[in-house]
Amino acid sequence: MPKMTEKAKHSVDAEQFATDLLRHYDNHARILPWRSDEQQNPYNIWISEIMLQQTTVATVIGYFEKFLKTFPTVEKLAAADEQDVLHLWQGLGYYSRARNLHKCAKEIAKNHNSTFPNSYDELLKLPGIGPYTAAAIAAIAFNQPETVVDGNVERVITRLYNIQTPLPDSKKEIKEKAIPLTSKNRAGDYAGAIMDLGATICTPKSPKCDICPVIKHCRANNLQTAAELPHRRRKAAKPKLSGTAWIFLDAEGRIFLQKRPEKGLLGNLWEVPSEGWEDEKRNSVLPHHLASHCNNYVEGGRIRHIFTHFSLELDVRITQIEETKEEWFNPASLPPLPTLMKKVLAQLS
Ligand code: ADE
Repeated sequence: MPKMTEKAKHSVDAEQFATDLLRHYDNHARILPWRSDEQQNPYNIWISEIMLQQTTVATVIGYFEKFLKTFPTVEKLAAADEQDVLHLWQGLGYYSRARNLHKCAKEIAKNHNSTFPNSYDELLKLPGIGPYTAAAIAAIAFNQPETVVDGNVERVITRLYNIQTPLPDSKKEIKEKAIPLTSKNRAGDYAGAIMDLGATICTPKSPKCDICPVIKHCRANNLQTAAELPHRRRKAAKPKLSGTAWIFLDAEGRIFLQKRPEKGLLGNLWEVPSEGWEDEKRNSVLPHHLASHCNNYVEGGRIRHIFTHFSLELDVRITQIEETKEEWFNPASLPPLPTLMKKVLAQLS
């Protein structure tokens, strides 16, 4: 008989796994605003899922509640001004999510009679809705038997099967193993349950295996490997970029801001001019009429910011001009600004 590999040896009783997980969820589900009976609708679930990408539950709760007060329905969001949407997103980062959210609302209002499609395939066609979000909305809002795999679920499945292949190479195997475990009749609750398990018990560091409701299914627990999984392929070091940011102040202390181009990093958001760190197309962002003021400045210190694909250091320089410019921005009423620009302007105080 051929020797069984480590992979082939472990099987999980899918039905029992879902039953054990859901029993725990019924008693211990996290209380989250978008889960309450009054708030459970496709629009709210969509907003929460987009906000929860790259952001923790604790941060999202406040943003979610404020967002829904301002835009309680998809029609209200579709009719909004983009700057107002970005304003409510200020601080959540990854602003393309907010712009896509707005685009998607317009499309649902115009082409779907303000009603969310309920299938994975239809949801996937909408702006800003990728495989994760389409599965999450289909499962949680419409109880379709779709399998939701986020970072938490990847960790749970990796440990359950003691997958030794590092992430991201193991993504396909993880998805293949996750699909048959998904509860067919409670797919929405199952999605919440497995994400909660990853967030609260099957945590990256010091997993709380002693209180895990599915411990008896877990191969990594048998082998005492949970704490070291999942392995990750070593990431290439992020490039380090550096440049100069200019704060121009008029005689009344107003600040010069300009809009970034629609496409690309921090697209369509306001910025102070900066130079030296972007590609050729974006390098000469110092307006001609202000360049002549650059010989005379005060050093405002150095700020650091980490983007997904690079880290950035900017030397901040502060320049006073003599005239008063009505169209510049009063520091007390600035438009929505990305975190990078808030860090630059914090050098004023
Ligand atoms: N993380 C992202 N979406 C989630 C959800 N619906 N429940 C728990 N954690 C989540």
